[in-house]
Amino acid sequence: MATQKKEGPRLDFFSDWKYSPAPESKEHIRLNKKYDLFINGKWQKPTGSKYFATHNPATEEKLAEVADAGEKDVDAAVQAARSAYEKTWRKMPGRERGKYIYRIARMIQERARELSVIETMDGGKSIRESRDIDVPLAASHFFYYAGWADKLDYAFPNRKPTPLGVAGQIIPWNFPLLMAAWKIAPALACGNTVVLKPAETTPLTALKLAEIIQDSGLPDGVVNIITGAGKTGAAIVNHPHVNKVAFTGSTDVGRIIQKAVAGTAKRVTLELGGKAANIIFEDAAIDQAVEGIVNGIYFNQGHVCCAGSRLFVQEGVADLVIRKLKDRMETLIVGDPLDKNTDVGAINSKQQLQVITNYIQIGKEGGAEFYQSSCELPKKGYFVRPTLFLNVSQSHRIVQEEIFGPVLAVQTFRTIEEVIEKANNIPYGLSAGVWTDKGSKIFNLTGKLRAGVIWANTYNKFDPTSPFGGYKESGFGREGGVHGLLPYLSL
Ligand code: NAI
Ligand code: MG
Repeated sequence: MATQKKEGPRLDFFSDWKYSPAPESKEHIRLNKKYDLFINGKWQKPTGSKYFATHNPATEEKLAEVADAGEKDVDAAVQAARSAYEKTWRKMPGRERGKYIYRIARMIQERARELSVIETMDGGKSIRESRDIDVPLAASHFFYYAGWADKLDYAFPNRKPTPLGVAGQIIPWNFPLLMAAWKIAPALACGNTVVLKPAETTPLTALKLAEIIQDSGLPDGVVNIITGAGKTGAAIVNHPHVNKVAFTGSTDVGRIIQKAVAGTAKRVTLELGGKAANIIFEDAAIDQAVEGIVNGIYFNQGHVCCAGSRLFVQEGVADLVIRKLKDRMETLIVGDPLDKNTDVGAINSKQQLQVITNYIQIGKEGGAEFYQSSCELPKKGYFVRPTLFLNVSQSHRIVQEEIFGPVLAVQTFRTIEEVIEKANNIPYGLSAGVWTDKGSKIFNLTGKLRAGVIWANTYNKFDPTSPFGGYKESGFGREGGVHGLLPYLSL
């Protein structure tokens, strides 16, 4: 519940001032009532004849039914991938492989509008985010890795880069199409074939990608896309003819996968959770930093593994930053994800809403000072107001554990040594942000923070040329850039 106190005329001005609704049209999208499995270039019914529904978390409406793949279906997909690997893909010259990957990239661009709307409907993220971030970045990943397909010898001079075989890829619900692109593009560029499983709450853009792949003329079986929940994922991981497992998702499932592949010849990369420190020094450009904090935790509902979910503010500017942050939170538009003005969309699922609500309760019970923006929430669907916890202690669960929601835990600090110690004192190490006017401070911190990605004076910026991945319980292996080729090659 909001405990908003109005703090002077600025807030009143913003809260009285409203945008008219500007919903993106969904007339142009095509969705089937039912989706089968994309195996060996064709749509195949699941052998168990089971389907499950995917919903729009903003309206709770059912969007479509998708197939629940069992072990036999997983086996068929892996066999198709194996046969395509042996017969066509591994033998094809890199420049020919590249042409297919470029074609997929262009087709994603051509269908960008449709893909963004479906991404927003199936997962709840704002249309602004899917239109401006997810879909363009998905296309650019395919473009980028298409360029490497015939240049692997230059990427690794004096080595003999060879593909691994069949890659089993399991992805989460926070960036459904983008994660599919992160996984499929480098695998194909390196000459591997793929069995990919999207998350059960957000399968639709991966199935649309299957349509694109079919239209692109990619040889049958090179990419197979199958749907299902954890059991289907486990069947991919455990299949004896899968050579490489690539997973993005929770640390718990990451642990299960690591155990499952131990003692086998399978290669594995895991991109797991995070609890990033966003660090604001007294000499930072405060307005930009406040925008960076908001971008880091509230946009995309905090459903970002690298979300800046822990804020560290240097004492001298703490009051100012918190005041400006509360002002900014008050202006955030929470609601219909298809509305182009919306900043914060719907929480991805009822379960995730429950997880976030529990953490908010834990935060309150732990004695932290609680603050939420005062916006109204839609009557239907899963929504959470942008939330702050102030005066939290380092050992508090809302500081130590990944919440994966729009909930920010704020701590203050005095010295660089203190903030490095606190920032590193968690099980995760995926990302961090540093805001300061001094280049020397940035370099001092980037060397000492145990995080795979560190942004300076910006946050959540992605580019296909730049590697991404974690330390500690955030997983291992890198995606993006030249580094992102390594998990798909033996050298
Ligand atoms: P999850 O890790 O269960 O799901 C991710 C993917 O793994 C899905 O495709 C799922 O079907 C699959 N999966 C589930 N069990 C599996 C198994 N035993 N073997 C193989 N694949 C399996 O994540 P969930 O339950 O949706 O979210 C729980 C928490 O995980 C979130 O609250 C968040 O903290 C974290 N998370 C982190 C993500 C990241 O990007 N690092 C993404 C999504 C969730
Ligand atoms: Mg859905």
